[in-house]
Amino acid sequence: MAEADLDPLLVIEQYSFPTPWKRSMYESDIDANRHARFFVIETKDQHELVGYIGSWFIYDEAHIGTIATKQEYRGRRIAEQLIAYTAFQGIQEGIAYIVLEVRVSNEAAITLYERLGFTQVGLRKRYYTDTQEDALLMTCRDMEGMARRLDIEEVPDER
Ligand SMILES: CC(C)(COP(=O)(O)OP(=O)(O)OC[C@H]1O[C@@H](n2cnc3c(N)ncnc32)[C@H](O)[C@@H]1OP(=O)(O)O)[C@@H](O)C(=O)NCCC(=O)NCCS
Repeated sequence: MAEADLDPLLVIEQYSFPTPWKRSMYESDIDANRHARFFVIETKDQHELVGYIGSWFIYDEAHIGTIATKQEYRGRRIAEQLIAYTAFQGIQEGIAYIVLEVRVSNEAAITLYERLGFTQVGLRKRYYTDTQEDALLMTCRDMEGMARRLDIEEVPDER
């Protein structure tokens, strides 16, 4: 992910989350957090940023902290490809499993994660301080299977 990706990313961020991350949060992760891995997918012709994912790779764990797809591009396997690429990259770096939290009301995301092989391993009560909503903790250990889902012509940009 390049510095120039931040503006279009933040537009998607704004309408995708109840409490969007601020620019400074992305900047500090991208500039100063050696554990952070951000990847984006852009269209081939116009180089329009249509999806992004941010994870922290710590020891053998990849923790997905953010993922979103531009509204008009949803349902086209963009999020799937972002997670698959994170798994692909994770394997190169010794990652054994992926973990994430998701709001219990986020049916689209939960359906996606379950379809990709994530399983529910816990519930974090009132995890989201903005709405006091609970988080499902989900994990996937089949890194190879996840990486095999990668079927895009060009791999996403690495930051
Ligand atoms: C969740 C999100 C990232 C999914 O992105 P996407 O690129 O549309 O997802 P994909 O196309 O890769 O995945 C498609 C699969 O996800 C599930 N899915 C996606 N949107 C869905 C919806 N609105 N309702 C139910 N299932 C849905 C389905 O299983 C679908 O597979 P199918 O088409 O075979 O039924 C996207 O909806 C988004 O950006 N939401 C706002 C941000 C967000 O909630 N992020 C997750 C935080 S944990």
